[in-house]
Amino acid sequence: MSERYIESAVTDPETAEHLAHIGAVRARLEKEGRTGERAPKYYIQTFGCQQNEADSERLAGLCAAMGYVKTALPEEAELILVNTCAVREHAEKKALSIIGSYKHIKDQNPALIIGVGGCMVTQKARADKLKGSYPYVSFTFDTGAVDRVPALLDHALNGGKREFVLSDEWKIAEGIPIRRESKHMAWLSIMYGCNNFCSYCIVPYVRGRERSRSAEAILEEARALIDDGARDITLLGQNVNSYDGGPYDGRRVDIAELMHRICALDGDFRLRFMTSHPKDASDRLIEAMAEEEKVVKHFHLPVQSGSDRILRAMNRKYTAGAYLEKIAKIRASVPDVSLTSDIIVGFPGETEEDFQATLDMMKAADYDMVFSFIYSPRAGTPAASMPDQVPREVSSERMDRLLALGASIADRRNERFVGRRIRVLAEDVSKTDASMLTGRGDPVRPVHFAGDRSLIGQFVEVEITGAKTYCLEGKPVR
Ligand code: SAH
Ligand code: SF4
Ligand code: F3S
Repeated sequence: MSERYIESAVTDPETAEHLAHIGAVRARLEKEGRTGERAPKYYIQTFGCQQNEADSERLAGLCAAMGYVKTALPEEAELILVNTCAVREHAEKKALSIIGSYKHIKDQNPALIIGVGGCMVTQKARADKLKGSYPYVSFTFDTGAVDRVPALLDHALNGGKREFVLSDEWKIAEGIPIRRESKHMAWLSIMYGCNNFCSYCIVPYVRGRERSRSAEAILEEARALIDDGARDITLLGQNVNSYDGGPYDGRRVDIAELMHRICALDGDFRLRFMTSHPKDASDRLIEAMAEEEKVVKHFHLPVQSGSDRILRAMNRKYTAGAYLEKIAKIRASVPDVSLTSDIIVGFPGETEEDFQATLDMMKAADYDMVFSFIYSPRAGTPAASMPDQVPREVSSERMDRLLALGASIADRRNERFVGRRIRVLAEDVSKTDASMLTGRGDPVRPVHFAGDRSLIGQFVEVEITGAKTYCLEGKPVR
C-alpha cells in the first residue's frame, strides 16, 4: 500500500500475474545499466476528478517500482501516461489535444512510449479512435486495468504490437504500489464505481458497478498513512454512502462505522469524504460527522438542479423538498457545517422556470461553494437523446447568472469566519507571494497566512482577518 511493491499485499491472482512484469522491466533496465542517474523518466498527465488523481498516484507507484523516475517535462520522458476523463466533452477534447501534442516528442525520440488510460478510453469508440488516428500511442487501458500497465509497458519495450485493453469485469486490485503527490494530504479510495445511472452521467459506464474495499485493507492503509505523516485524509468514492465493507469484528461496516474506526486510530489528523448522493446520505453518516472531532465539518452534497421535474428526468431519486429536509437535518446536527454542491445548467428540457428553481435552491441551501457545469451530452447516456436540448447561448447566459449568485452567497458565508481562530493545515507556499503559506482549515476554502515554509505539514492556529470570495486571509496566532 506504499510506494514499495509488496507482493504479499496483492490478493488477486491475475493482478499478481500483471505485476510480475514490474520485475521484468526492472531487470531489463538494470541489465542496460539504466539505473541511478541514467534511469529513464516518466511523465504523467492527469485529467478529471480525485478518483483519477488517486489512480495516477498508483500509476506513479508502478513507474517508480519499475525503476523510472519522475520528470515534470514531457520532452524528457521515455514513458508518458495520460489519465483521461470523460465527464464532459471539454475534458475529452483537452485530453485528445494533449495526446496530439505529444506526437512531436515521439518524432524526436522514437524510443518514447505513450500509454493512455482512464475514463475516456474505457469507451470503446474512444479507444478505437486512438487506435486509428493516433498511431504513436502504444497502448490504452481502461479504469479497471491500472494493474496491467507493467505488462503493457514490458510488451511495448519488447517491440510487441499495440494493445487496447478493455476489461470485461470490474474488480478491486489491492496491492498496487502508490506514490502519493503529497505527504500531508492523502486520497484514500474506499470504493469504486457507481450504480446510480443519473441520466446525464457517463461515470457508471466507465467506472463500472459499485464495489467496496475491505474495511481491513482501508484501516491498514489509513494507519500506514498516519504513521507516514498524513494529516488530512479524504475517503474517496463516487457515492461513499453505498460503502459496504461487509462484517468486520462482528459488525457490518458502513461508511459511518468506517469513519468511527478510522477516527479511533491514534494520531493528529483530519478526515474528509467525497461524494455522498443526497438520496442516501444517512442519519448514521450525519451523526458520525457530528460526533467525531476528527471529521471535517463539510458536506459535499451535489443537488444538480432545484426543479423536481428536472431532478426526475435526471434520475436523481429525490425532490427539492427532500433535499432541503436533508440539509436541515445536517445543519441541526452539525452547527456551522460547510455545505457545497454540484449543479448542472441547461439539462435537456430545462426552462427558465426550472432554472429559477435552481437559483432558489442555491439561496435556500446557502452553499459555501458551488461547482457548476454546463450540461454536456455524453454518447450512450439517456439524456443525450432527450428532446429539447438547450441551446448553448441559453445555458451560458444562465450560467453567468448562477455564478454571480453563487459568488454573492459565498461572500456572505465567508464573512462568518472573520475574527475567528481556525486550525489550518499548512499545505504549501502561496503561488503569488513567497512569504505567505496556503492551507486548509475546517471550512472548504484555502486560507492564506504569513509563515515560513518549515511549517508545511503542520497544523497552525490562524486568526482570520479577511474574507474573499473563494479564500480567507489570516495571521498565525503564537
Ligand atoms: N459521484 C458524484 C459526481 C461525479 S461527476 C456525484 O454523484 O455527485 C461530478 C459532477 O460532474 C457531477 O456532480 C455533475 O454535476 C457533473 N456532470 C456529470 N455529468 C455531466 C454532464 N454530462 N454534463 C455536465 N456536467 C456533468
Ligand atoms: Fe454520475 Fe450520478 Fe453516479 Fe454521481 S451518482 S457518478 S452523477 S451517475
Ligand atoms: Fe472522474 Fe472524469 Fe472519470 S470525473 S470518474 S475522471 S469521467
